[in-house]
Amino acid sequence: MRSFSHLVLAASAAAQVYEPPFALHPGDIVDHPLPTLSKRKAFSPCGEVAELWAAQKAQLSKPGATPAPIRVPAQRAYDCLMTVPVDVEGDLKEVEELESYIQYQSTLSWLKSGVKDQLDPHDIMGIFGSLKSAIKGKKDFISDYQVQLTIRATLDAAGDFHLHYIPDITNIFQFARPNGELVSISEDGVSLPKLYLASDLPKDANGKITGSEITKINGKIATEAIQEWSNHTRYHDADARYNTIFPNPALSALGTPNGGLSYSHYVYAGPSTNYTFANNSGKTIENVAVIPAIYDFSKVTDGVSFFKAFCNGPTRPSTLSSAKRSGSSNASPSSKPNTVASATPRPSPALLGYPKPEFIHDSKVVSGYYMSGNEYKDVAVLVLPGFAPTSVSPSWTQNINTGGFVETQGLVRKFFADAVKQNKKKLVIDLRGNGGGTIDMGFELFKQLFPAIEPYGAARYRAHDAFHYYSALVADVALEGDDKDGKVGVKWDDADYGIQSTFLWSNILDENLKPYKAYRDYYGPETINGDTFTSQRRYNVSSVDSLTGYNEFKNAPAQPFKPEDIVILQDGFCGSTCAIFSELMREQGKVQSIAIGGRPRNAAMQGIGGSKGSQVLTFDVLHDFAERTIKVAEALDGAAVAKRLNETTNVGKIYNAKQIFKRTTIPGAGKSIVGGVNSLNNQRQGDTTETPLEFIYEATDCRLFYTTASYLDPVNLWKMAIDSRWGKGKCVPGSTGHKTAISTLENKSGFGSKGTNSQQSNADGTPFQTTGAAPSMGVSAAMMVVAGAFAMVMAL
Ligand SMILES: *[C@@H]1O[C@H](CO)[C@@H](O)[C@H](O)[C@H]1NC(C)=O
Ligand SMILES: *[C@@H]1O[C@H](CO)[C@@H](O)[C@H](O)[C@H]1NC(C)=O
Ligand SMILES: *[C@@H]1O[C@H](CO)[C@@H](O)[C@H](O)[C@H]1NC(C)=O
Ligand SMILES: *[C@@H]1O[C@H](CO)[C@@H](O)[C@H](O)[C@H]1NC(C)=O
Ligand SMILES: *[C@@H]1O[C@H](CO)[C@@H](O)[C@H](O)[C@H]1NC(C)=O
Repeated sequence: MRSFSHLVLAASAAAQVYEPPFALHPGDIVDHPLPTLSKRKAFSPCGEVAELWAAQKAQLSKPGATPAPIRVPAQRAYDCLMTVPVDVEGDLKEVEELESYIQYQSTLSWLKSGVKDQLDPHDIMGIFGSLKSAIKGKKDFISDYQVQLTIRATLDAAGDFHLHYIPDITNIFQFARPNGELVSISEDGVSLPKLYLASDLPKDANGKITGSEITKINGKIATEAIQEWSNHTRYHDADARYNTIFPNPALSALGTPNGGLSYSHYVYAGPSTNYTFANNSGKTIENVAVIPAIYDFSKVTDGVSFFKAFCNGPTRPSTLSSAKRSGSSNASPSSKPNTVASATPRPSPALLGYPKPEFIHDSKVVSGYYMSGNEYKDVAVLVLPGFAPTSVSPSWTQNINTGGFVETQGLVRKFFADAVKQNKKKLVIDLRGNGGGTIDMGFELFKQLFPAIEPYGAARYRAHDAFHYYSALVADVALEGDDKDGKVGVKWDDADYGIQSTFLWSNILDENLKPYKAYRDYYGPETINGDTFTSQRRYNVSSVDSLTGYNEFKNAPAQPFKPEDIVILQDGFCGSTCAIFSELMREQGKVQSIAIGGRPRNAAMQGIGGSKGSQVLTFDVLHDFAERTIKVAEALDGAAVAKRLNETTNVGKIYNAKQIFKRTTIPGAGKSIVGGVNSLNNQRQGDTTETPLEFIYEATDCRLFYTTASYLDPVNLWKMAIDSRWGKGKCVPGSTGHKTAISTLENKSGFGSKGTNSQQSNADGTPFQTTGAAPSMGVSAAMMVVAGAFAMVMAL
């Protein structure tokens, strides 16, 4: 099998919601009394925090102690943070370095200009400029926490979960409300939902909520208060943000950290939370700050020593490499077995609270079900809370991403074949909670559903000097051939970022699936919305042998379901590869979708609230690009060119960055920093405005709210969805027929109109494009242009 190189580039590139290290699981928060300090030795807030920490640490190390996260009163933690002195010089450097990395963010100009009715202007570079002046002015900030909070929140406010940088000091305390989890539940699925304590949910799906509605939070209208909480999450859609406040049942079923972000947050939300119920009673919760187990407060006595302990470069405990997110949930991270390495037989995987699957992948992110009961017996359900099915099979230890791809490809293919054989006519695709994964998974699933359609998926990079030098140098290395003489030095024969990758212009195709004639046609730059971009590029999907519909799988099975017999369920968490897949399904497959949840409004809702960009590049990768660029320039073009790159361009700035690596929160194993950008804008076919999908509003075709029954049991949700799509079920008033919904645009009967749908053709009318007919490039001639381009830019 040939390398997956360019699509699996997603392994580190594209496509997932960023999960902070040591994310707090809402279930980790137990409400037990805090220890009282027998003697007050310290009078600084950080000193008090340290004492509370030490007392709990001692408690936890006693034999037989129940593991519990260490936590302190939220206000103590906040007061402590506010006494940490501002590192003026370091912070200035940090912001400057961030500015060079953020050059790779593809949406800067749209964020800056804002998007009508969707997004207020958010000029990240402008804010960073003012931030630098404010730091220099030494007046605006009392504490370093305020500076770092500004940095983190500025990036988060882009509402693009690919764009992130997590400074150390913002991740030491995770603010939480013990036993304060909320749910948003509608009586019947279409009337407006109300807020309740999650603990007021009945034990089983047939029960009723007995508790009283929450009407106010801290004296404010409750639904407005939680919109403020949700305001700091990285989703661009307000309904999606609203959903992040509640435990996401699709993710809870995986047993991984889920929504409920308000319960694990870096923004201090006051000392307590006060809920007022409709029955006029109230409940006040003391907010806490949870301290992940990796942070050692033994040398902390005040703000200065706090800075010394935690803001001086990430020190990685030796246990960290094997324990991923046990920091907050487990007193001793090393006690958690590493499931991947474990040789003991695994129990067969299952999603909590889901029915017995027809199939489920080990990773649990892909599973299939058949509905039962007369009305539903012709419906199959495919459940995908993620697109990164990691293989646990020992035979795939070399490349767990590829392994998961091959395994799930086979499982889904078999499921569809069996469904067709068993006369299943309809398919529900449940994408709730899906924050993305590897790009090839998105294309593969689309090709299994629509084998005759050539997926579009064109995208653009932001064109800027650091990317140009990198692109030009990859091309120059390709010119050198196999580097037999070792002149190039760095590993260039590399599937992710070297000459086998899609960063080499001749490995990628133009908008019409034709090879580029010259580097300049590939790189552009073209000016769009006041910024510069590379030209529209598409993957040569047929260069991946194993994708359905190409090469060894050229003779794909027939299309298993008609588009009008498929419906997609979304809850706003969808982004990244999930957004790529959803775009293909909507625009090319003409498949309709249903949104679940969101703010209590009689209106349509978007399904995709996460990043709609089609690639994330981490800061580690961007640093690697810069390093390669300078080293290869030295090898091929001499020390003088390398020196100029190092000293006069952003390549040098990125390469020489130190402060952001010092101020990052502790990264996961094998990484040096927690940061990343959205590097590719996903474009819509035929959109003459050239707007990245991130900024195009697209309503779903129908919306439903959770009921107790559908929140607690997915089968009930699927039934509601099936009823509203194909039966007599309703949608939330005002949620159908939105002008941007695909059913409206296609003028197809959708929700709310019963009876048979008008017939739809299988394909979208796009002619099937054959690939492979292109003449092979005259490589050396083409590359000459690149070398020329590089020299030309260097001369500027
Ligand atoms: C009011 O509702 C809350 C929340 O469900 C409940 O905990 C409380 O017991 C109720 N109080 C009365 C007096 O019914
Ligand atoms: C809750 O907050 C409101 C407004 O701040 C206040 O009037 C009320 O007394 C509080 N209730 C409790 C139980 O703390
Ligand atoms: C988000 O929070 C900030 C600060 O509390 C506030 O100024 C802003 O209006 C909020 N935005 C929304 C959409 O609620
Ligand atoms: C796509 O890749 C395949 C396999 O590497 C190659 O044969 C084909 O020519 C490429 N398509 C184009 C249009 O270059
Ligand atoms: C590159 O620039 C940095 C400072 O910006 C300097 O410390 C380093 O020595 C330079 N390296 C080379 C190879 O010129």
